Amino acid sequence: MSLEKSEKFIIHSPTRSQGRSFDRRDDVFEKRVLAGGQAVMYRGNCLDIIPTLPKGSIDAVITDPPYSSGGMMRGDRTGSTRSKYQSSGKLITEHASFSGDNLDQRSYLEWARMWLSLALYVTKPGGVAITFSDWRQLPTATDALQVAGWVWRGIVPWDKINARPMPNRFRAQCEFAPWASNGPRDFTREGATYHPGVLSECPPYNAKRQHSTQKPVGIMETLCKIVVEGETVLDPFSGSGTTGVACLRTGRRFIGMELDPGNFEIACKRIEEK
Ligand SMILES: C[S@@+](CC[C@H](N)C(=O)[O-])C[C@H]1O[C@@H](n2cnc3c(N)ncnc32)[C@H](O)[C@@H]1O
Repeated sequence: MSLEKSEKFIIHSPTRSQGRSFDRRDDVFEKRVLAGGQAVMYRGNCLDIIPTLPKGSIDAVITDPPYSSGGMMRGDRTGSTRSKYQSSGKLITEHASFSGDNLDQRSYLEWARMWLSLALYVTKPGGVAITFSDWRQLPTATDALQVAGWVWRGIVPWDKINARPMPNRFRAQCEFAPWASNGPRDFTREGATYHPGVLSECPPYNAKRQHSTQKPVGIMETLCKIVVEGETVLDPFSGSGTTGVACLRTGRRFIGMELDPGNFEIACKRIEEK
């Protein structure tokens, strides 16, 4: 992997004293410029890093945050992500667990409001947010978007097609991508593009996955097309970097953030190799 630039930063963020960080070890964050300057990845807590971006510099925030879900009861939710987000009932032992996924409902709402408020500040007027959720957290996700100041525009369901059959129950076959704008958005601009109301694609097979909740690149490519080529997408919860890969394949610029050092390395590699 060729890295044009790799820098380390000491954080002097006022958010530190407000208890926003999950992990006190990430007092240093790292910035890597990738793909000839088309993409940048930051390693660290997005609550600390988003405020370092210039106001109004982002065209769309497209992300897949921790859902703090995986069960109806608090005990279910506090399990490791590796055990909660399994595929076809099999434990995905080869993927690391990730943090930030164990909040109860009130805390999740407040945390989501915090990062969505920061994201709004760095998004240009009329810019877009698309943030994934599962069925359990959907009401909280749309509340958080609005409390943070975004104008809620709708929900794009993702049909995962091959969801696990569940006896005497409906399959949990969809995840959901509520979307919103930073105030009014001009829907009358020249050269209109038309976007689907439902996304359909199987999740990546286990053998092809590098993250336990990895999204299909095709789904992220469709979402990235909400902004035009050359515009900039921010993903504060990049995981294995799928949004970044989708951006580069479709000619969008990308800024990603990832707390976990292992996932950060995977994301940088995937983005470089796209
Ligand atoms: C649901 S996963 C994203 C998966 C991604 N869509 C993919 O395709 O690989 C969420 C990611 O957010 C990261 N994360 C959790 N809290 C974070 C924070 N405060 N700042 C930055 N990243 C965070 C986790 O380590 C995890 O990899």
